[in-house]
Formats: sequence, C-alpha cells, structure tokens
Amino acid sequence: MGYFITFEGIEGCGKTTQIRLLAEHLKASGRAVTLTREPGGCAIADKIRAILLDADNRAMLPHAELLLYAAARAQHVGEIVRPALEIGNVVLCDRFTDATIAYQSNGRGIERQTIDTLNNLACGGVRPDLTVLIDCDPVLGLERARRRIDTSSGPREERFELEALAFHQRVREGYLALAGGEPHRFLIVNGGDSIERIADTIARQVDSRMEEQQHAVR
Ligand SMILES: Nc1ncnc2c1ncn2[C@@H]1O[C@H](COP(=O)(O)OP(=O)(O)O)[C@@H](O)[C@H]1O
Ligand SMILES: [Mg+2]
Repeated sequence: MGYFITFEGIEGCGKTTQIRLLAEHLKASGRAVTLTREPGGCAIADKIRAILLDADNRAMLPHAELLLYAAARAQHVGEIVRPALEIGNVVLCDRFTDATIAYQSNGRGIERQTIDTLNNLACGGVRPDLTVLIDCDPVLGLERARRRIDTSSGPREERFELEALAFHQRVREGYLALAGGEPHRFLIVNGGDSIERIADTIARQVDSRMEEQQHAVR
C-alpha cells in the first residue's frame, strides 16, 4: 500500500501552494506521486466540481451540496485514489473528508452523523495516513484567495469565498476540533508563516512519518 496525505484548511491558507511543493520534494527523493484534489480529480468529478464552485449557484441547498460532494468523492476515490495507493504511490489530495465535516457540518450546520455516513460510503475504507491542516486566520486567507481569483483567467470558483467571515471562522474552528480529536493523524502548521518555512516543516514531518510507517510494516 502507498501513503495517503490530505491537505486541509480554509480558502487561501496555502493548500495548493504547499501540496505542489511537497510533490516536488517527494519526486526529487524518487517517490512516485499522485497529486489530486477534491472536489474533482477525474473527469466526472470535475464536472461536479464546476457545479459546486460556480458562484451563480447561490440557490444550492445544503443537502444537495453534501450529496454532490459525496458523489464526486465516490468517483474520485474509486477511479484515482484507491488504484494509486494500491500500486504503492504517495497520494497527495488537496481537500478530502475533513473538509466536508468542517464546511457542511460546522459551516452549514448539517448533523455530523449524516456526513460521516456519506463520507464512509464514498471512501469505502480509504483513509488518510496523514492530514496537513494549514491553520489560518480567515481575514488573511480570504484576502489571499480574493487576490488569486481576481488575477486568474479561469472560471471564478468563488461560491465559498463569498460566504461571510463568520462562516469561515466556524470552518476554521471545525478543522481545529477535528485535529484535536485525532492528534496522531493531523499535522497542524501555521498558515501565517512564510511559504518556505511551512514547506520545510511539512517536508520534514512527512519524511519522518513515512519512514516510521515503513519500519512498522517490516
Ligand atoms: N504562506 C504564505 N504567505 C504568503 N502568501 C501565500 C502563502 N501561501 C500561499 N500564499 C499565496 O496566497 C494565495 C492563495 O494560496 P493557495 O495556495 O492557492 O491557497 P488555497 O489553495 O489554500 O486556497 C496564492 O496567491 C499564494 O501564492
Ligand atoms: Mg487551492
């Protein structure tokens, strides 16, 4: 089996920046890396992503949103994540099940049990070995995310960025509570640090944890 690492945190905390740097670091040390993201990661799930992130879809109801995430995840895990882990790759995924808990439960108020049931259904037993939580003040994260969206030429994937600050604060707290409940799975880094410093912390932790896992297997 490979090694499954997910990246979590609010918009603009630095997930996409850091996941790319970690992918480069791992490839440089000879690892086979699968870099992917949610929602999306394969053709069918990318179509669902477009619906989920389209700022025009303001009328989307919380349960419809939750089910779309679950559908996208089921396809992505089955088509991309599980096969990559089975051939021994390190799989890096930008957002995963913890995002659904933080956004749809802490953010939207959907009962946790429903979300856990759907996450389990979609994952079929696939679980992250390590989750990097980039903790960040929403004021800072949203300012960065807005700057990125304003300067990018692609579709404006900003339905969540348009939520009130209080929503993002609940999401942040939700993530921290998840990390507090599973300290061994989570690595919390400070998103307010420099890009280089965060990347260095993540690389060192990942190297030592993957080594630990190899020893445990032997
Ligand atoms: N630690 C950091 N310090 C300053 N700017 C950052 C940092 N991390 C990311 N950024 C910048 O902030 C913006 C959002 O980062 P990104 O990695 O896209 O966040 P996310 O994927 O979590 O939404 C990008 O323009 C990125 O270059
Ligand atoms: Mg991103």
